[in-house]
Amino acid sequence: MVRDTAATRSRFYLADCLDVFAQLDAHSVDVIVTSPPYNLGIGYNRYQDTLPRADYLEWTNAWIGAAARVLRPDGSLFLNVGAKPSDPWTAFDVVQAARPHLRLQNIIHWIKSIAIERDSAGAAAALTRDLAVGHYKPINSDRFLNDCHEFVFHLTPGGGTRLDRLALGVPYQDQSNVARWTKAADGLRCRGNTWFIPYETIQRRDRDRPHPATFPAKLPEQCLRLHGASRIRRAMDPFTGLGSTAVACVRLGIPEFIGCDIDETYLDAAAERVKEALKPKMAKAWPTGSSMANRHG
Ligand SMILES: C[S@@+](CC[C@H](N)C(=O)[O-])C[C@H]1O[C@@H](n2cnc3c(N)ncnc32)[C@H](O)[C@@H]1O
Repeated sequence: MVRDTAATRSRFYLADCLDVFAQLDAHSVDVIVTSPPYNLGIGYNRYQDTLPRADYLEWTNAWIGAAARVLRPDGSLFLNVGAKPSDPWTAFDVVQAARPHLRLQNIIHWIKSIAIERDSAGAAAALTRDLAVGHYKPINSDRFLNDCHEFVFHLTPGGGTRLDRLALGVPYQDQSNVARWTKAADGLRCRGNTWFIPYETIQRRDRDRPHPATFPAKLPEQCLRLHGASRIRRAMDPFTGLGSTAVACVRLGIPEFIGCDIDETYLDAAAERVKEALKPKMAKAWPTGSSMANRHG
């Protein structure tokens, strides 16, 4: 079954991602940004997140192999994986399953919550007190730490995919560095591989985020911009959930998005979110400079 939100050129398939991958031509997708089930017993609507570990890794190997087939040679797979404190190997096991198919080009740490002491931030930050920002699920344990980050593994066919590092650039704190390094002439430096992206605050989980394991749309948005939004013709999220990657594509004016999930409830919500994302975009432009970005907003 296909859901087509024609205005955005987003196509949602109520289907197993392996079937969707099989329908796509080889080397036809520029970027995949996704977060598969982590096999940690999460309470999804339909999917049973409790496979025996060996079966889960075999399946992981299969879908990443299928993803690698459809990726362009200069494409990117941004693979978000978390873990639970009592099962910290999950993320590493998943990325090992990718090893026969793709190169591990970068490891990004998605920081969900961080505490920064006023003194460590330095005088330029002008903090009046220590800072603790972001959301995380606190755990009660004398062994494990609260889990405040997840991985985003950047996997590519050849390990040499060019990136638009300054699309996520941050201004140099010390402007004298700008003169010293000619490459920094526009006053920006590479953000690096620690991305602080908190969850959006919600009022009611059942209404505002009816899914147990989403990422904020800003996460796929940063992945797409890092790859280079203006050179992406087709993006994909094979585990669409509530469609955060689809929303990011709309925000950036990516011409085509393909998503799939085995859960109709989630796909319905994803299609709604895409429609919502299109509304304010008519008035507000995202500063990527691409003509598609101007068109969608
Ligand atoms: C971690 S969630 C993705 C959440 C998404 N990133 C978001 O922000 O909303 C994983 C999703 O994969 C879906 N899923 C599980 N097995 C699948 C399969 N074989 N093919 C497609 N989707 C699947 C689940 O229903 C679930 O919505």
